[in-house]
Formats: sequence, C-alpha cells, structure tokens
Amino acid sequence: MNYGYFDGENKEYVITKPNTPAPWANYLGSPEYGAIISNNAGGYSFVKSGANGRIIRYRFNAINMDQPGRYIYLRDNDNGDYWSGSWQPVGKPLDKYENQCHHGTAYTNIKSKYTNIKAETLYYVPLDKTYEVWRVKVTNEDTKVRNLSLYGYVEFSNENNYEQDSVNLQYTQYITKTYFRNNKIIQTINENVKQSVNGSTGKERFFGVAGAEVAAYEGDRDTFVGEYRNYSNPIAVESGKCQKVLNYNTNSCGALQIDITLNPGETKELAFVLGAHNDDASSKILASYEDLSQVEKELQELKDYWHGKLNNFQINTPDENFNHMINTWNSYQCFITFVWSRAASFQYCGLRNGYGFRDTVQDIQGIIHLAPELALEKIKFMISGQVDNGGGLPLVKFDHNPGHEMTPDDPAYTYDRYRADDALWLFPTILKYINETGNDDFLDEVIPFANKGEATVYEHLKRAINFSMERQGNNGMPAGLHADWNDCLRMGAKGESTFVAFQLYYAMAILKNIATDKKDDAYVAYLDEKLAELKETMQTKCWEGDQFIRGIREDGIVVGSKNDPEANLWLNPQSWAVISGCADKEQCEKALDKVYERLNTPYGAVLLDPPYKDHAFDGALMLLFNPSTKENGGIFSQSQGWIILAEALMGRGNKAFEYYRECSPAEMNDNAEVRKLEPYAHGQFIEAKESPFQGRAHVHWLTGTASTVMVGCVEGILGMRPTVDGLNISPSVPSDWKEFSIFKSFRGKKLNILVKNPDGKEGGVRELIVNGEKVEGSFLPVSMLKEENEIIATM
Ligand code: NOJ
Repeated sequence: MNYGYFDGENKEYVITKPNTPAPWANYLGSPEYGAIISNNAGGYSFVKSGANGRIIRYRFNAINMDQPGRYIYLRDNDNGDYWSGSWQPVGKPLDKYENQCHHGTAYTNIKSKYTNIKAETLYYVPLDKTYEVWRVKVTNEDTKVRNLSLYGYVEFSNENNYEQDSVNLQYTQYITKTYFRNNKIIQTINENVKQSVNGSTGKERFFGVAGAEVAAYEGDRDTFVGEYRNYSNPIAVESGKCQKVLNYNTNSCGALQIDITLNPGETKELAFVLGAHNDDASSKILASYEDLSQVEKELQELKDYWHGKLNNFQINTPDENFNHMINTWNSYQCFITFVWSRAASFQYCGLRNGYGFRDTVQDIQGIIHLAPELALEKIKFMISGQVDNGGGLPLVKFDHNPGHEMTPDDPAYTYDRYRADDALWLFPTILKYINETGNDDFLDEVIPFANKGEATVYEHLKRAINFSMERQGNNGMPAGLHADWNDCLRMGAKGESTFVAFQLYYAMAILKNIATDKKDDAYVAYLDEKLAELKETMQTKCWEGDQFIRGIREDGIVVGSKNDPEANLWLNPQSWAVISGCADKEQCEKALDKVYERLNTPYGAVLLDPPYKDHAFDGALMLLFNPSTKENGGIFSQSQGWIILAEALMGRGNKAFEYYRECSPAEMNDNAEVRKLEPYAHGQFIEAKESPFQGRAHVHWLTGTASTVMVGCVEGILGMRPTVDGLNISPSVPSDWKEFSIFKSFRGKKLNILVKNPDGKEGGVRELIVNGEKVEGSFLPVSMLKEENEIIATM
C-alpha cells in the first residue's frame, strides 16, 4: 500500500494518507535552530543541541505515538465541532477529513479540508534565522458564513536539557513561568537568575502570532488540556475558550486563540512564530511578519538555497524512483546527516552532543559533489578532531576546541577508547574532495590537532597511517582496538579486523599517490613496502578460496571463517576487498558472487550469516540483538552502499543496481506498510530473513546509509569519478538502460552528459564526444571544459 508519492518537479514528497505506519518526518532549520516535524505535525525543536537546547517537548517511544507537536486546532463556534490542521491529534474520521502533507526541502506544508473549511499550515525555519514560522491559511469553501476559533499550540519544555526536563521533575516543574504580552506568550526559565548560577542563567522563549488579534490564551499546559484528557480533546478547544491561565510551578505551554469569521470563499492568513528569544527580540521578529508576504519570500529563499545545492547534480534515467532519490531525497538526507550527525530524530533523543568521528567523516562524502565548499569546512573541522598520535577522537564535540581537547590517553577522558578505523575514513573523504575540486593545495594547509600542535593535512594523513602501524595485531594487520566500523565487534586489544586492514591498504594507496606527486620518495618507498606486506598478509591469512574472513582475534581464533557454525560469511570484508584494491580480479568476483548467493535478500544483503545465537564469542556484542536485526545479521543499510560500489567498480551494473533497488526506500513506496519508515529516507537497518517482519526498516534519517548509498550510486552506478585532472565517466548500469543523462556542476562549469548504451552493456565507456570533439576512452580532461559542455558518452 502507498501513502503518498514523489513530486519530482517541486522536490516534495506528498503524503496523501495521514495514517502512515510510522511518523514520517522532515527536517527544518540549521544547526543554530533545528526542528523535526512529522506528517502529523509531531516533533520538536532545539537550539544548537537536541539534548541541551530543547525548546519543545516530544515524548519518545510513547503512546499516543508522535506527540506532542506544533498543533493548529480549529473549532466551529456554531456547532462546537473541532478538528486539527494535521490529522492528529484530533484524528477525525478519514472519510470526512481530507489531508495532505507536503514535505519539501526544509519546509513542510500540511493541508486539510473538513466541513468545507480548508486549512493549510506551512512550517519552516527561515534561512539563517533562529526561530520557526507556522503560516496558517484558512479558507471557507462553504456557501454560508462560518464562525471559527483557531488555536496555535505548543508544549514548551520546562528546561533546555532534555533529560533533566524528562526526569528531574522535583526541579524542572518549579523554574518556569509564562506571561502574555500583546500577541505572544513568553516563557521564562530561572527568571530570577541574572548572572550564572551553577552554569545556568535565565532563559526566555516565545510563541506569538502575527496578522491576527489574540482573543484568549493559555500558558499552563494542564489548563489547556484539562484533567484526564489528552491532545485529541483539549478542554480549551472543546469548550471554545482559553482561560488565560499562566503556569507557575506546573508545565508550561503556549496556546493562542484567534476568533475568525469567514464569508463564503474568504481566506484568513496569519503566522505563528516560535523561538528562544526574549520579549524585545521576539516583538521585533513578530513585527517583521505583519506583512505576511514575508513568508512567501522566505519560502522562496529556502527553495533557492536547497534546490540550488541539489541542482548541482541531477539525473534523468529510465528509473523514476532512482531519479527521485538521487535528485532530491538521498541528497537532502545527506545534507541532514552532514549537519546534524546523529543528534536528533525520533530515535535519537539528542543526547550525543557531537560528531562521531567516523560517522561525520563519511557523511561528508555524501555532499562533496553537491557542495564542496561546505564539505571543506567540515573536513577541516574533523581533521582538527585528530589526536597528534594520528587517531581520531571518538566524538568531536559540537563545542570542540582544537588544540585543547582531552584524548582517550588522558585518564580523565570519559567518552570512549580509540577505534581502529576512525582516522582511516579521512583518506577517501579527502581524496574525493580533492578530486572533485582539484584543490590539492589543501594538502599543505596547516590544521591543529585535537590535543596539541598542528601540521599540514599531508602530515595529518601520515600520522593516521602511523597510528595503525604503531598498533599492530599479532598477524601484521592493524589491531582491532575498541572496535572497528562495527560498534559491536571486540576482537581484543591485539585482535585484528580485515575490514580495517582493507581500509589501511586503501589509505596507503591513496597516500602513496599523494606522496608521489609531492616527490616524497622515501615515504613512497616506505608505503610500497607496507602495501606489499599487508597484501601478502591478506592473501595468506585472510582469503579462504572464495571469501575473506572478518578478522583474527587476539587468541588467534578466526572470526568469519567459512567453517564457523554461525556468522561464517560477513559482507563488509568482501565489498572492501574490492573497494580497497587489495584483492585481485578473480578474488573480487568470487567474493562478490558468494555475497550474492549467500547474503542477498529481497531487501539487500545481510551483514553476516547466519546470525549469532549459540556460537558467539565474548566480543561478539551483536549477540545482544535479535537474529536478523542490526549488526546481528540485519540488513545494515550503510553496508549496501559499499556492495553497490564494489559491484559497480567491477563493472557489474546489473548487480549494482539490484542492490540499490533492494534497499532503496522509494522502491518500497507501494509496500510502505512493510517498510514502515519513510519511503524517501534511508534507515539504519532493515530486518532480514529470520525476523517475522522481514523488510521492516528502523532508525530513520540519521544514518551513514545516506552517504554510502549516495557514493555507491553517484560514483559507482552513475560512474562519476573525478580526478585532479578531469572526470572519469564510467557508469555501471542495468544493461537494459538504453540512454540516460546527467547534469553535473564541475569546477564551476556545467556538464550535460548523455550516456548512450546501444549494445546493452553494464559497465564502462568506450568513447566520449566532448563539445563535438571525439575522445577515446572514458576520461574527460578538465582542459577541454568550457563554461557549458555537451558530452556524449558511449558505453
Ligand atoms: C551506527 C554507528 O553510528 C556507526 O558509527 C557504526 O559504524 C554503525 N552503527 C555500525 O556498527
């Protein structure tokens, strides 16, 4: 069953049935002011941090699900009937209540029609602003005059810190007050505190309205809702009268009642505005919306900004769903993970106050082809999260202070120990950035280390290699340390992971090219030797004839051997054998074939098989999860990006695309009741064969899947493989694609690429015609580029 459709032209997903199997979310705002909103207006807002800057509440994991939110209630004052602008929370019968939610790029527009009253609420955070706007339009489509009340409602948190607000009730209930001032509710927190006490100073929030007079209000949540009621039937709405009660030692809220009379055909428009600003500042903000045309201007600015970024890479292929994902939704999701990391969603409550090193360094890869300038800023920031010993800080805090951070070597450091993989992610990310932009001067830029000192980017990369070299296991591979990419894998301090070994191999190969360019001959020789040694180890100790093992524990026992009773084939070592360039062609083919045979399912390849149940070792923490779930043999969606890329690098376009389709949210649009999560956003994992709910996806939006699948599709399937000197065009596509086109911004120039596939190939390009000039092979030199270029690539 579907609950909506993709509107490619407007870059929107339109939800036509509001009773979606899970709240289907969208992200609004920027790191300064972020908001998450569902198709039923559920969700929450925060300033800078989901954990420490929470302004509005959301009850995670609760019944009623997806509450509270940014509610608009409507009441017919002639008969007492009431409903909400979003289907929930009132939840009118769907045969009488029409609803559409348009999730767009950083805005959401929820439309309803009930008893001939149309309502439309546009939610957004204006570009570079630190508040949110809910513009409401109500239209009377009846033949008679309608007397209505409209209520804007928000449940404030009583305290910025989410955990404190949720659990420390003996404190948080007694620190806030609300006031009504003209057209707004002001909420104060610790209002007596003029200077910092225990690190806390007074705070203010506001919820106001522009374009309408407030008839009545409520600042006290329980007065608005009423005893033993809930958001589906708040007494203030049912009775038609807010009591003008302000909270004092209770829970706060902002509720503003506006009475309106509408003639037939008449529309009334107003805007609620919410943020963390004081009386003065919020008055000014509200005044700027007295002329409501401001809203349309700001909406256009948002679209210009986001569409501008997304339009840097657009495709037109025979597969509509692929187009929607690449042109809009996967790209937009990459920006969201890039900005918010794993900070705030309907699963992440906001408690992680920083960027996971590996997560963000990978997230960056998803936007390099769309916004290399933003990627650069974040790359520098993440490099400054590298410790001077070459390792990555497990978590780079939002308020990271380069040069002054503690490290896992400091006894007082509490977060975590070093992971084996963190700093190794820098290599592909920096390489992709340099290749996209040609900016190899970046390698000479000096960037501080997290703890002390500074060095060029080149030196940072060398230290990352050193970090692995100084922490070797018993067999010549890097030691597993706390874990590798797989959070659940404890190999022991001297245990070894083949995934990390392949990453190290790839990193050294990348750095060797850089060192060669820099004529750093001694270092090139060093890397040559290390590359050869590592390759030898991988060949002799890790290859089992048709698959690579997952690692060797400290006690010498192999993990992921084909002879193991459980977890005897792991996905990532096979895909990374290809990506790293460490395996030979025959090994790559055998390993990929084995993955396809043993690990593939209708929803993607499982991470390992069979899941652990009875034969796990002590460090196999995935045993904690149910079989076919998350790291215990679930379809870990991030890894799908790597298998797509691996197949594509081998020129096996049919398989690459098959893996893409299996895990693509859009492909599940018509089976949304199975997938549950949004059909326009990747989740962290999908339940696999041993689950009774095979195909159900979990942990929406904030996942490394966004960037790995993006890279798998753009670099792999679509074959956009820039180098410093130009662009390799090397698609690996389904053999029945006869033709497709790509628009790519590249080095400030426009590329219109038409790929022709007359012979039904699945990989490779034999000839290019660049602005009418024939070029043998697939490489487009940057020297041939004009401002706008017509390129025909023949497969
Ligand atoms: C989710 C974590 O955010 C990520 O860092 C990790 O690589 C995956 N889980 C796999 O364990």
